[in-house]
Amino acid sequence: MKRFQVAIASSKGGVGKSAVSIHVCHALSKKGLKVVLADADSNQSSTYWAERAEQNGHDLGFAVIDGISGNVPSDCDFLWIDTQGNPDLSELGDLSRNMDLVVLPCGVDAGEVTATLKSIQEAKLEVSDYKILLTRVPPRPNKRGETLHNQLEEAGLPVFDLSIQHRICHYDANESGLTLGQMKGRAAKAGAKEYANLADEILKLVEKNHEPG
Ligand SMILES: Nc1ncnc2c1ncn2[C@@H]1O[C@H](COP(=O)(O)OP(=O)(O)OP(=O)(O)O)[C@@H](O)[C@H]1O
Ligand SMILES: [Mg+2]
Repeated sequence: MKRFQVAIASSKGGVGKSAVSIHVCHALSKKGLKVVLADADSNQSSTYWAERAEQNGHDLGFAVIDGISGNVPSDCDFLWIDTQGNPDLSELGDLSRNMDLVVLPCGVDAGEVTATLKSIQEAKLEVSDYKILLTRVPPRPNKRGETLHNQLEEAGLPVFDLSIQHRICHYDANESGLTLGQMKGRAAKAGAKEYANLADEILKLVEKNHEPG
């Protein structure tokens, strides 16, 4: 079986790359895939998350390796790379050529959207190379996420159907090295469901990209 390779990248830091990485990898590993998360960010937030998980006896279901020097086990089906915020444009271009997909998380803030669109344009990413993921979207009845999603679609930009809502329980998850699905409470469960649906969307997309022809 071919190994799928997906990277997550953003023009700004602190947009939720590591939170998405941990949760999507967890959801993919629950589907029986052998997942490896390569932490290529010098902040190492995914690595520290996994360390906190281990210290607290939580099983994330996948291994986190050092993105730069780590050895990817030969039986890995799905390699996910968490990258450094604000990569230079050639780096982003290289990622788009070498990966099956680049996930670009982006908040609803105008500055974040502008920075994301600018890097897509300047790195000359092809529509089939990447997909924008709206993250930390304010909950309903606020319509900011929905409006932005429609605008991006109307502009012909690839955007995930699913958006990740802003949920306070992320802070506890991060602190304890848990995933939302391992936590109690309705908000955490709803968040976990969102990430599981996102993992489905990603898997369908990379499987399609691999169809011969
Ligand atoms: N959906 C969300 N709702 C609320 N808080 C979130 C959400 N996603 C992430 N966060 C919080 O936002 C902060 C930044 O998230 P995270 O570390 O995942 O971003 P990052 O892009 O990986 O940052 P860096 O560039 O520093 O690596 C963290 O405190 C995290 O817990
Ligand atoms: Mg990070």
